[in-house]
Amino acid sequence: MSDGFSGWNRPPGPGAFPAYPGYPGAYPGAPGPYPGAPGPHHGPPGPYPGGPPGPYPGGPPGPYPGGPPGPYPGGPTAPYSEAPAAPLKVPYDLPLPAGLMPRLLITITGTVNSNPNRFSLDFKRGQDIAFHFNPRFKEDHKRVIVCNSMFQNNWGKEERTAPRFPFEPGTPFKLQVLCEGDHFKVAVNDAHLLQFNFREKKLNEITKLCIAGDITLTSVLTSMI
Ligand code: GAL
Repeated sequence: MSDGFSGWNRPPGPGAFPAYPGYPGAYPGAPGPYPGAPGPHHGPPGPYPGGPPGPYPGGPPGPYPGGPPGPYPGGPTAPYSEAPAAPLKVPYDLPLPAGLMPRLLITITGTVNSNPNRFSLDFKRGQDIAFHFNPRFKEDHKRVIVCNSMFQNNWGKEERTAPRFPFEPGTPFKLQVLCEGDHFKVAVNDAHLLQFNFREKKLNEITKLCIAGDITLTSVLTSMI
């Protein structure tokens, strides 16, 4: 593939979801579900045996290397709800009962609002923010992605090294955050965007993801790859 990440892609596994029957598509106005999107499932985290397709390839689908395959601990047993896909309320808090761990993949789909200012993901350990991912659409009339952490109410050093800005007003996106051994990887629309080295190392204590700002949120999913 031409995005330079062909080695990161994997085909949908047996647990990948077909289009939701009768559902008009993940994104209004689009002819069908977003290619490669895990589907219009929403609500609490769900287990995705095999993991959703995306830029981050897996080995075994289980949560722990060498362990039995299984979902992210604390997820519900049903892979998706029967409810029709209504937007999730923003700000949205996703509990991560077992905290973060290497191979945990979080897949967020949504649409950027029209005339957006900013949105953010915050991976939180108590009040601290281990990883703040913050696309800004109009900072000094420019668009920039700011990554940072906040410990004891103090912001750390900003990282502004994203090589591109892949979000557009009014446009659907798929945003994936993969927890690795010593950094987060972020991909947008199946293309790798940036890495953020861990500053907070107590991964198991990072037990909440907060999503806020100028987006309409369609789904938030967790899986192990
Ligand atoms: C601040 C902003 C925060 C956060 C932080 C990141 O200026 O108020 O919301 O984005 O930058 O460094």
